[in-house]
Amino acid sequence: MQRPTIDDDEHVFICGQTGTGKSVAAEVYLAGKDHVVKLDTKGEVYERRKKGLNLWHGLTEGKDFTVVHHLEDVMEVETPKIIYCPVAEELEPEYYEALMEWVYKRENTILWIDELMEVAPSAQNYPKQLKALYTRGRSKQSVVWACTQRPTDIPVIAMANSTHYFIFTMQNPDDRKKIVKATGMPQFMEQPGGHNFLYWRIGMDAPIKARFKL
Ligand SMILES: Nc1ncnc2c1ncn2[C@@H]1O[C@H](COP(=O)(O)OP(=O)(O)OP(=O)(O)O)[C@@H](O)[C@H]1O
Ligand SMILES: [Mg+2]
Repeated sequence: MQRPTIDDDEHVFICGQTGTGKSVAAEVYLAGKDHVVKLDTKGEVYERRKKGLNLWHGLTEGKDFTVVHHLEDVMEVETPKIIYCPVAEELEPEYYEALMEWVYKRENTILWIDELMEVAPSAQNYPKQLKALYTRGRSKQSVVWACTQRPTDIPVIAMANSTHYFIFTMQNPDDRKKIVKATGMPQFMEQPGGHNFLYWRIGMDAPIKARFKL
């Protein structure tokens, strides 16, 4: 499949069980975008450094992106992209709230949340600024690309405001039903398998199965 065009004023939803390729998909896609902030609550930065892997496929640290561990440093970064991997004390709702507010006010910025469940632990409990981004961010081109392992406990606004869906394998049928319900596409009951995903955008007749070539 040709990579679908995703405009800068669209929210994107990526979901699938661990190891299926959500982060890789976002990373490959977002490498081609301008201003991106990755919220790395899972500490992928540390894991990759330990393994000697590049922190952002195809990009150069220091030139294309900067890694910061403190929120106050996010605001000082001069590269187009930022990976914010919070220190333990900053893995807290008030920091997520402040980051999201900053993204909203900055405009023309994509917030890539690598695990939505970490910042929005239940359907009712999530940052106010996340709602602001989802409901009012599009006109400012401040948008959210959210990855999550499970779509069941996250706020409804995440799926309801997204226009592009990348759905990888999820063993739990309730998780798949949730996607079917949100999109009206029964095809999402199918398991794409491996690193494949089902892609659908609003307006398409049916999802299509595809995978990213690394
Ligand atoms: N399209 C692909 N082609 C080949 N290998 C892939 C592809 N996508 C992912 N992988 C491999 O699978 C591994 C896991 O992918 P990734 O980190 O994106 O999973 P994830 O869905 O984000 O998992 P988690 O929920 O645990 O964060 C990658 O490190 C890579 O080795
Ligand atoms: Mg991941």
